Amino acid sequence: MYQSSINERKLSEEALERQLFFIEKCKEKVSEISKELGRPLKCCTQTFGCQMNARDSEKLLGILEQIGYLPTDEEKEADIVLYNTCTVRENANLRVYGRLGHLNAIKKKNPHMIIALCGCMMQEPDVVEKIKSSYKFVDIVFGTFNIFKLAELLFNRWNSGEQVIDIWEETREIVEELPTQRKYSFKSGVNIMFGCNNFCSYCIVPYVRGREKSREPKEIIREIEHLVADGVKEVMLLGQNVNSYGKTLEKPVSFAELLREIEKIEGLERIRFMTPHPKDLSDDLIAVMRDSKKICNHMHLPVQSGSSRLLKLMNRRYTKEHYLELVEKIRHEIPDISLTTDIIVGFPGETEEDFEETLDVVRRAKFDSAYTFIYSKRTGTPAAAMENQVPEDIVKERFDRLKTVGETAHSINERYVGKVLPVLVEDIDDHDSSMVTARMTNNILVHFKGTSRLIGNIVDVYMDECRGFYYMGHIAKQPALQNKED
Ligand code: 5AD
Ligand code: SF4
Repeated sequence: MYQSSINERKLSEEALERQLFFIEKCKEKVSEISKELGRPLKCCTQTFGCQMNARDSEKLLGILEQIGYLPTDEEKEADIVLYNTCTVRENANLRVYGRLGHLNAIKKKNPHMIIALCGCMMQEPDVVEKIKSSYKFVDIVFGTFNIFKLAELLFNRWNSGEQVIDIWEETREIVEELPTQRKYSFKSGVNIMFGCNNFCSYCIVPYVRGREKSREPKEIIREIEHLVADGVKEVMLLGQNVNSYGKTLEKPVSFAELLREIEKIEGLERIRFMTPHPKDLSDDLIAVMRDSKKICNHMHLPVQSGSSRLLKLMNRRYTKEHYLELVEKIRHEIPDISLTTDIIVGFPGETEEDFEETLDVVRRAKFDSAYTFIYSKRTGTPAAAMENQVPEDIVKERFDRLKTVGETAHSINERYVGKVLPVLVEDIDDHDSSMVTARMTNNILVHFKGTSRLIGNIVDVYMDECRGFYYMGHIAKQPALQNKED
């Protein structure tokens, strides 16, 4: 039913072969250095930012492990340190610069150590200039469009002995099937599209992640089938605006249609996605979610502001009323759904009245949780040039008020107390090793007594108590475990 463009496929296959060649070359070099040092080489990858970046990091780690590096969390014992950076807010950039100083000190003790930087921040020309002039000890710099080239860039670094910088302006090809090292054995992110065409006036993503480009449905399905065969039960479909999935394909396919196809994959138990944009969330998508047995009853639907005036300035292309109607429609069709959102406080020109509108949406939409961000000025975006930037103290005060209103809205979470719900066990509890942490389909966490044998299994849990953002529970029914080894 699906067809991919032959030229694009061919290009990707050639690019894949080329990278496999460089992976082999790097493997030889790693084994050489390892013999010299008399120990295995280690790699440390650090991810800043969103789920898209987390997924990219799995691909990068996959390449590094294939080359022969062993993963470590300790930068000081690593032979290659790779930062996959974010630039959505200025703070993210500042953190990277701060940590680079620290890495330089480590490198002085371990001169053969390679420092590599990639991701969104590297797509900003000013950042690359700064690294060239002031951070000469950085070995490799690449961006968001060519992460698959890591082995080639590393090889070039060793060969030339010089700083290697390779930044692309756009996606030239989507390379399928390079090795990937997943963080969890039972769940995985899956990119369905790259880039963004929305140009919200505050956001730098369209400039650093480029124009929207969807992957072919058959490539996505094939990847998920492989993941399921490898033990994955839950996938998170990733895109900057999943609602516009498939529009640019030779044979257009809607996101709802893609979901229907993914639903058919045998053995796959849970489907999540992020992020949908309110402006083009279709009735068809709501219907697919309502009728699906696998799509989780959670939707992250960023509102950004409750003021229609500000939404217009933000270029969001919906109004407060439209957003609230959407929420009503979703809740009517899927009554038990958990809704979460993103909100920006202090967008240029935000007045007290505008902010009150945001508070009003928070009260009325009853979000299960809201990620609130202080507006950060990003050079090159239309909002950066706007007058009336809101003074810091006013923004801070509004931010605190929003938090208080948001916390009152969270009490709706109480609704699961006394119910038995299926949950996917993810980890041993951070605070108590006799407990495990699991996720309900609505994305809320629950902690209960259990051992590592439960990890990766879906079990029925009785919800004893709601503690604000999470629940405490106990196993309602002992499951037939699928991975018995501890
Ligand atoms: N300032 C503050 N928050 C921002 N976001 C995106 N750009 C900015 C910015 N310039 C927030 C939005 C988005 C989330 C991923 O980050 O709320 O949904
Ligand atoms: Fe993700 Fe946006 Fe940060 Fe890039 S800038 S890593 S897309 S959050």
